[in-house]
Amino acid sequence: MDDVIKILVIDDDDSGREALSMLLRSVGYEVTSAATGEIALDLIDHEQFQVIVSDLFLPDKSGLDILQEVQKISPATEVIVVTGHASAQTAVRAMKEGAFDYITKPIDFDELKIVVSKALEKQKLLSENIYLRRQLQGRFEFNNIIGSSPAMTLVFERMTRIVKTDSTVLISGESGTGKELVARALHYNGVRKERPFIAVNCSAIPELLLESELFGHVRGAFTGAIKDKPGKFEAANHGTIFLDEIGTLPLHLQAKLLRVLQEHEVERVGSNKPVKLHVRVISATNSDLEEMVKRGVFREDLYYRLNVIPLHLPPLRERQQDIMYLTAFFLEKQCRLMGRQPCTISKQALEALERYSWPGNVRELENLIERMIALTDANVITLDDVPVKILGEQLDGETFCVKMQSGGIDLVATISEIEHSLIFQALEAAGGIKARAAALLGINRTTLVEKIRRLKIEE
Ligand SMILES: Nc1ncnc2c1ncn2[C@@H]1O[C@H](COP(=O)(O)OP(=O)(O)OP(=O)(O)O)[C@@H](O)[C@H]1O
Ligand SMILES: [Mg+2]
Repeated sequence: MDDVIKILVIDDDDSGREALSMLLRSVGYEVTSAATGEIALDLIDHEQFQVIVSDLFLPDKSGLDILQEVQKISPATEVIVVTGHASAQTAVRAMKEGAFDYITKPIDFDELKIVVSKALEKQKLLSENIYLRRQLQGRFEFNNIIGSSPAMTLVFERMTRIVKTDSTVLISGESGTGKELVARALHYNGVRKERPFIAVNCSAIPELLLESELFGHVRGAFTGAIKDKPGKFEAANHGTIFLDEIGTLPLHLQAKLLRVLQEHEVERVGSNKPVKLHVRVISATNSDLEEMVKRGVFREDLYYRLNVIPLHLPPLRERQQDIMYLTAFFLEKQCRLMGRQPCTISKQALEALERYSWPGNVRELENLIERMIALTDANVITLDDVPVKILGEQLDGETFCVKMQSGGIDLVATISEIEHSLIFQALEAAGGIKARAAALLGINRTTLVEKIRRLKIEE
């Protein structure tokens, strides 16, 4: 379906240029090469290349000059710079000025292949082709859960294992990270999929009603209880009950819930006749239950009952790589819902989204896209459509600062959290290539491998 993919290789070193060209040809690209900046610019003027792989240091021009020219003449072309002089600074500058990525000499051919295919993938997503949704689906999703970052790949792997079991799962994650979506996917791909999935948001129901909501009541149990009523547990019998915001469950109901889980039976409010149950429990929380246990506001025994299999959903800011796929997905979804022609997003606008911190996570991104589409008649979302709030808060310039809490902080845990997050981000930025992630972190590969092992960051 794709047209021929044209790549331009620029390098003054004959053997390097030939080797690169041959490699890229062998993977099926049409490769043209140039030995000087002049020749290269002349070619770029006359031909459309999807990707340019350029040495940073050429006899007549620098790779940065070429980059600037390309952005003027052919903004859709992605430039990958190659640096031989371990000059991380220039490479970083090239990235800031819009290079897609950089690679260092000696070139690791596998790495180059990956970087080129990622550049092409980004282009494709940015063009109309993103709406070939099936393709996207097959590759990166588990029931409409989008993600290609290492962090989400781990989540999918774990989910694939969980759906084969009937175990109790505790999903944790900030607001808007997809906890409910994941809970539903676990149910509808699991052994109980033909049976009911009943969701209860423990924080949305007034405390006085919650008990009868969960466990049911009999007639006359309290004022207004005019007839017998089964609770959500009974409704979920043989299926799954999803206890959302479990951290808000009051202590006396925690005790009752624990009994239900231990005895596999429930007593309706006002009755002492137990009803047998076979219910799978999936719960979710955006608060730190372990810490609540320490503070004595969440029962430790219940915590262990619920947390048989923990599943953590990382915040969106730790999986920047997913933003373009999620954006493509929501653009398609919203345009379809609004009955509009498919929309796309400009490269600059997408990059602004990628640099934002997303405190409201995926939900915030989804809402923003809906709003941007609703407010424009154009088919392309551009930087002008991106709210000032997002443009104003770009992660690049952010200085790292952890605030001291009034009650003190756990220094060791905080530092290891920061370390964990940075290693994750580096691995993501490096496309999973450890040597590269290590370079980004300024440590050597062995140290990184050791840290990964110690922090239990699985690959
Ligand atoms: N990985 C994802 N792929 C596609 N859509 C997602 C993904 N994660 C979340 N969403 C969407 O984002 C929205 C929020 O997700 P969900 O309600 O599951 O989050 P949550 O963690 O339960 O949030 P809260 O704690 O606020 O209840 C939903 O519309 C969901 O479909
Ligand atoms: Mg939720």
